Amino acid sequence: MRNKIVAGNWKMNKLYSEAVELVDEITIQLKDDPKADDIIKIIIPAFPYIRKVVRHSHGVKNLFTGAQNCASEESGAYTGEVSAAMIKSLEANYVIVGHSERRSYYKENHLDLKKKVNACLEQSLTPIFCVGETKEIRQSNKHYEVVAEQISESLFHLSAAEFEKLVLAYEPVWAIGTGLTATSAQAQEMHHFIRSMIEKNYGKDAAHKVSILYGGSCNAKNATELFACPDVDGGLIGGASLVPKDFITIIHSFPK
Ligand code: PGA
Repeated sequence: MRNKIVAGNWKMNKLYSEAVELVDEITIQLKDDPKADDIIKIIIPAFPYIRKVVRHSHGVKNLFTGAQNCASEESGAYTGEVSAAMIKSLEANYVIVGHSERRSYYKENHLDLKKKVNACLEQSLTPIFCVGETKEIRQSNKHYEVVAEQISESLFHLSAAEFEKLVLAYEPVWAIGTGLTATSAQAQEMHHFIRSMIEKNYGKDAAHKVSILYGGSCNAKNATELFACPDVDGGLIGGASLVPKDFITIIHSFPK
């Protein structure tokens, strides 16, 4: 059985006091929610709030903390960067690598992302590796090609044992923060394609083990339909993860 995962990417939102209030509300609800126990839940706040979220997550079953990015270098004179080792030292467990906002606004390329994945694995952090196509790419029918390149260029240097440690997220760029969700058919199609790629390169075992999340305007209303797809193992949630009630509803949206 693959892990079912709901990860909340808070992006650059919330002041400290608001973040504390948000994590408080989420953890209070989850503590008393045996239905959510078996789902892996990950809160991914901005760097300065990681330690606080880690502390709050103690005592909630399967609740973990992540970072939204990490440096590609190990340590040294890289002003403004945060290393994988630093994230690990805060007791976070996950790192988003290759989010489309990083790829487009900060020009992160395949090689940068490959180095970030390596840096995470070296620290026993789980990368949540994001892939996805823009609207123009989908319209020109090159979405499979682009996603295949994102995966092969940044990840296929890994051994099968390393690859199995990853979480992948398919996030069509045209669906992120736009209110436009991929249909469940579009999500399933791409998730199936990604899983077949993994199978071709690493074999059935690895393909069956790696969780592939959907992200892009996934919310309390559409999560049930998306999570019902056989190759969708959960969600990477932006906007809706800032609303405790919606985040919890999404966690409850897996098929029984
Ligand atoms: P969204 O963001 O849910 O607000 O579309 C998802 C993401 O960027 O991870």
